[in-house]
Amino acid sequence: MTNNESNDLNSPSRGTGGMKIAIINGPNLNLLGTRETDIYGNMPFENFLDQLTQKYPSVEFSYYQSNIEGELINALQLVGFEYDGIILNPAGYTHTSVAIGDAITAIKTPVIEVHISNVHAREDFRKLSHVSGKSIGSIFGLGLKGYELAVEWFIRG
Ligand code: DQA
Repeated sequence: MTNNESNDLNSPSRGTGGMKIAIINGPNLNLLGTRETDIYGNMPFENFLDQLTQKYPSVEFSYYQSNIEGELINALQLVGFEYDGIILNPAGYTHTSVAIGDAITAIKTPVIEVHISNVHAREDFRKLSHVSGKSIGSIFGLGLKGYELAVEWFIRG
């Protein structure tokens, strides 16, 4: 995956074939590596994604990040009838967006919700998720490792 391709769902990077997994990140996650590093760590997501794609060469990954709610819904609809799995971190929209929850219900591809931080150990408003009940599972508090564990689940069940 090149940086140019990494944010373009219409040109998902291709591995050697096999399972197709989309990673979709919500608002402010483009600032990983500089944003609140005590909570979210020091690694830019693109660096992590490079490691992930190298570790799973047989998986066809696509990556999309947006700060805009409707664009995240468009992204879910775009991959949601074709891909084998979606790993979704809706970030702040997790706690507010009925529409992202509805989009998960509307598509066919199973979604795993991931949060880098432990949302249940933070402010009360982060305990509400419009996504958890629509997802096949949720991972939170395990840092970027949560994305890798979600990939493992899609590969091995
Ligand atoms: C987050 C948790 C959300 O509450 C927060 O708004 C984020 C990131 C996480 O990955 O820990 O932006 O989704």
